[in-house]
Amino acid sequence: MKPNQDGRPQQKTLLLTGAASGIGEALCAQYLALGWKVIACGRNPEKLALLATKENIQTLQLDLNESQQVLDNFAHLEGLDLVILNAGSCEYIDDVKHFDGKLFERVINTNLISIGYCLQALLPKMAAGSQLALVGSSASFLPFSRAQAYGASKAGIAYLASSLAIDLKQSDIDVSLIRPGFVKTPLTDKNDFNMPMRITSEQAATYIVQGLQKRQFDIHFPKKFTLILKAIAFLPERLWRSFSARTLQK
Ligand SMILES: NC(=O)c1ccc[n+]([C@@H]2O[C@H](COP(=O)([O-])OP(=O)(O)OC[C@H]3O[C@@H](n4cnc5c(N)ncnc54)[C@H](OP(=O)(O)O)[C@@H]3O)[C@@H](O)[C@H]2O)c1
Repeated sequence: MKPNQDGRPQQKTLLLTGAASGIGEALCAQYLALGWKVIACGRNPEKLALLATKENIQTLQLDLNESQQVLDNFAHLEGLDLVILNAGSCEYIDDVKHFDGKLFERVINTNLISIGYCLQALLPKMAAGSQLALVGSSASFLPFSRAQAYGASKAGIAYLASSLAIDLKQSDIDVSLIRPGFVKTPLTDKNDFNMPMRITSEQAATYIVQGLQKRQFDIHFPKKFTLILKAIAFLPERLWRSFSARTLQK
């Protein structure tokens, strides 16, 4: 930490969405342990009340799908060193011939559109030297069966992060795209298929903190899993398609 004029280390501030569960909860714990102040955003009042008992934490209860709630809650914030937009949800399209348009809308809204509201509220407050991280998914390396909604939202995030990184360079704001493999959280506890190389949320948070400390753009883990996906994506379409067809099936 940089020292203040009086020689004491200057406390850094993280704004984190989806902070009360899974990867977000583990990130919250690790940044608090590093001495950061955490502005923890979530929906669930009971989970937020538990977080609020800790030192150096400020909680904000809001539904990220409500643009006005996002703008109002973030309006008074300042001095953000790091913003991690982590909140998200996952639902699969079980019967593609009877495509559930409402499910598609829900997932795209929560995972992608809400990020637009956050960017509108937060980017004007982010100073030179600060960092912005978007949580995507390794699902955007390859198209998977049943993942039309989730995968499309995460592919959108990957494009958004890459494009933001170009334009925010001139403001000296570093952008990171975080693409986890399978992580044990309430989100994946609902899954009904095999999840290879699944790691804990604490391990995931450690990878993320390390990647962000190095200001990496593409933070993906566990490498063994994500590099296999990246390699498969280079194969001819016929081959990766047959691999993808067998994944995420019940
Ligand atoms: N777990 C994995 O294997 C995995 C893999 C790749 C990517 N990811 C991504 O990692 C991120 C975190 O997921 P996780 O696994 O930690 O899942 P999680 O435990 O279910 O956490 C998701 C968080 O997002 C919050 N959230 C969802 N919708 C919201 C809304 N409309 N407004 C405000 N908050 C909202 C939830 O708040 P409530 O507690 O109030 O519901 C929850 O705290 C997600 O973006 C997910 O897509 C996860």
